Amino acid sequence: MTRILGISGSIRAASFNTALLNALPALAPEGTTIEVFKGIDELPHFNEDLEADVPASVVRLREAVRSADGIVISTPEYNRSVPGVLKNALDWASRPYGQSSWFGKPVAVLSASPGAQGGIRAQEELRSQLRNLGAYVVHGPEIAVPEVHTRLSVDEQARATLTDPATAGMATFLLNALEDAVRANTGGTHTKSLGAWMASLAG
Ligand SMILES: Cc1cc2nc3c(=O)[nH]c(=O)nc-3n(C[C@H](O)[C@H](O)[C@H](O)COP(=O)(O)O)c2cc1C
Repeated sequence: MTRILGISGSIRAASFNTALLNALPALAPEGTTIEVFKGIDELPHFNEDLEADVPASVVRLREAVRSADGIVISTPEYNRSVPGVLKNALDWASRPYGQSSWFGKPVAVLSASPGAQGGIRAQEELRSQLRNLGAYVVHGPEIAVPEVHTRLSVDEQARATLTDPATAGMATFLLNALEDAVRANTGGTHTKSLGAWMASLAG
């Protein structure tokens, strides 16, 4: 059994990115579960003054990231970048220094937008940030879903389906690549020397 944690970069109730994550379990390899994290909106703004005694919402996020076998993030694009709520979550889970929950974690990244570019610029930034955090970012396929409102359907029970076969096919490839990375411990191998370097910095 492979346990994947989904993180949406949007806290909007009718978010397309959250719906995209909700559509993924049907496209995942057998034996893989995907649970979408709830509580990004409960995180306070990151503040080093809060680090000595972090709120329960932060503990919950760190634990959820740490205990997952892999992560899948779907992000909107706000003004050509990653929404602040998602960056805030990345920062909280990157601390304390040397104990980042992202370290060695296999992560698959998607983006979606009603616009023509599918949020690719935010996705590129997110990939760069995750690499910097020592996560293992699954290379591809790169899925930036343009005009997402035409490619995704959501019913009254909030059940989501990717109705565009090409996007659904790519999502299956991406989730298989994530599963492969989990099974082969690619993240652990990938961060071996990086970990030694970080430990040397910490003294
Ligand atoms: C402040 C703000 C900035 C935005 N900037 C972009 C942008 O740069 N590129 C883009 O494709 N869409 C942009 N959008 C539109 C979002 O892609 C759209 O609101 C989308 O539905 C948000 O994702 P969600 O449905 O998951 O909440 C922006 C929306 C807001 C509110």
